[in-house]
Amino acid sequence: SHNYKIAVLPGDGIGPEVTAESVKVLNVIAQAFQYNFQFEYAKMGAEAIFETGNPLPEETLTVCKNADAVLFGAIGDPYFDNNPDAKVRPEQGLLKLRKELGLFANIRPIKTYTSLTKKSPLKKEVVDGTDIQIYRELISGIYFGEKFTDENGEYAYDVCKYSKDEIVQIAHLAFQDAQKRRKKVTLVDKANVLDTSRLWRKVVQEIAKDYPDVTLEFLFVDNAAMQMILNPKQFDVILTENMFGDIISDEASVIGGSIGLLPSASIGNDNALFEPIHGSYPQAKGKGIANPIASILSAAMLLDYLKLDVAANKLREAVEHAIDHRYVTEDLNKEQNYSTSEVGDFIVDYIKFSEKSYYN
Ligand code: IPM
Ligand code: MN
Repeated sequence: SHNYKIAVLPGDGIGPEVTAESVKVLNVIAQAFQYNFQFEYAKMGAEAIFETGNPLPEETLTVCKNADAVLFGAIGDPYFDNNPDAKVRPEQGLLKLRKELGLFANIRPIKTYTSLTKKSPLKKEVVDGTDIQIYRELISGIYFGEKFTDENGEYAYDVCKYSKDEIVQIAHLAFQDAQKRRKKVTLVDKANVLDTSRLWRKVVQEIAKDYPDVTLEFLFVDNAAMQMILNPKQFDVILTENMFGDIISDEASVIGGSIGLLPSASIGNDNALFEPIHGSYPQAKGKGIANPIASILSAAMLLDYLKLDVAANKLREAVEHAIDHRYVTEDLNKEQNYSTSEVGDFIVDYIKFSEKSYYN
């Protein structure tokens, strides 16, 4: 049957308002395609700290583990950014959730829409047609190595560590995706300096032998940062470790004209979480100006994950329709901007009117 439990973690800042649009859209998808989505809400981030002292309450973790998929909004709050000594931070909630759910692969598609490439800080001819899939390792590396700050605040360290197994599992996903795409994987690392990067190269070279139809290339991360701006179209699948992936993906996110368009999927063996790649954007909180499309496209990736392909494609078609008709928030159309919920409504209506079954 088509019953699915979806955990919803709206989180901080604009998280709740963009997530509300995704839930609205998923509800219309459910009606049109006769699915039953059961949404279970839970708290994470600053909101959870203020209420319970814990950025990831036990109850939230349980809701996520019992769900078929997790839809997440955003995390972070200026209160904590302005207090570097705060012992508990909202981000710890997300990091712990990724780890506990075993979400080892973070997939970030970078796509451009021809009608929007004028908004890009780069030349239209440089960016038009960019289509990159970033595979970022998500639960190891410097984010999760040993950390230390001495009592006097004189020195500190963060250890970057990787094991072969951690590299193997995400590398396979990246190569399998490349086989369905333009058959190229670029490993981004710093193998001229770092031991962990040399381990990545060795392991990935070995795995590449299983995929003879895929070309494997290597790029040092500093050069990759430059190539991303010079010629983003050269990239197909990018495979990289946790922190390099964090940085490269923010850089890549502006290519299409707005970070407000980009979704992501974090995948593990038993769980998956979907979130926009933008952050909590506290300045916009509650104003109804945040772009809901990154969250709505994350919901489309959630449908892909549940193997509801037809619905996922319908949802993407509706988003493209909104973008083509300039039915977008102020980040994309200053003159005639629509609110967060107006954009959601437009997408909902498109699905209703184009799916006859909705009226049965
Ligand atoms: C991201 C974010 C997170 C990260 C933060 C909020 C911990 O920047 O998802 O890219 O660094 O992974
Ligand atoms: Mn980031």
